[in-house]
Amino acid sequence: MARVVNLPQEVGEPDQYGVVGHPVEHSWSPFIHGMFAKVAAQNLVYRLFDIHPDDFRRETLRLMTGGVRGLNVTLPHKQAAAELVNELTPRAARAQAVNTIAFFENTTLLGDNTDGVGLITDLEQNLQIDLADKRVLILGAGGAARGAAPAILARGPAQLTIANRDLGKARQLVETFARFGPIEAMSYAYLSTQNRYDLVLNSTSASWSGETPPAPSACFAPGALAYDLVYGKGLTPFLALARDAGSGRLADGVGMLVEQAAEAFAWWRGVRPSTNAVIAALSIPLV
Ligand code: ATR
Repeated sequence: MARVVNLPQEVGEPDQYGVVGHPVEHSWSPFIHGMFAKVAAQNLVYRLFDIHPDDFRRETLRLMTGGVRGLNVTLPHKQAAAELVNELTPRAARAQAVNTIAFFENTTLLGDNTDGVGLITDLEQNLQIDLADKRVLILGAGGAARGAAPAILARGPAQLTIANRDLGKARQLVETFARFGPIEAMSYAYLSTQNRYDLVLNSTSASWSGETPPAPSACFAPGALAYDLVYGKGLTPFLALARDAGSGRLADGVGMLVEQAAEAFAWWRGVRPSTNAVIAALSIPLV
């Protein structure tokens, strides 16, 4: 009888992916996509590419012609990426920002934005929040708010309020997204005179530098979910404010980070990785 020998499976060159940003060395994306690749048995490598804004176009095209099949795009390149690609998905066109690029046959660049869907998946599936008819407050009117606002409006909230120090920026955002649902701009000072909110989302960059956005305690409804888009910082000053104001639940942005990555991975590879273990591995207690 012939002996059966199990030969090692033939493995080709791994497909190349990565994230472009400036700076980018703090990015958790290589860990996340590395875990996804392992659980979904995908042969790929995922690297960091630190690219200066002046070189973004040239270097991104060079990566593409060098064989990279897909890129995540982080600060400060998301708007430049929307201008670089040949085609935008509808959600990337709405956000006017791209966080995921797929290269097809080395000639076409397709741009997507998975930030909004990542946030919604985290809120609805992981945190079990139903946004329909809820009162939602977003603090900040920068790039992160631009990604979050249309995704939240698509879920049918009773009201979406955008508060920002620079009220003109909040008003601009309202103008851009007014056709998607009930959205209004408000100053921080005026917030305390308003009804309370069921979800308060901190999209400002304040938590990255240990600052607190000037939101009044009165804006949190009893049992409200306070969600800080930053991750890896534990209990931020914003989350501490929410806790002290009686907010029922606290969350940071690690769930959104992992879910937006899973959506990008699924788009590139056609396989949706499970996210629970990755979120658990990266979560820091919010105390
Ligand atoms: P991102 O793309 O991360 O959203 P951004 O576009 O630079 O970054 O926007 C940063 C947002 O955080 C802005 O809305 C900014 O408010 P202003 O437009 O009024 O400057 C907000 N922000 C930053 N630090 C803040 C702080 N300490 N308190 C309140 N808002 C802050």
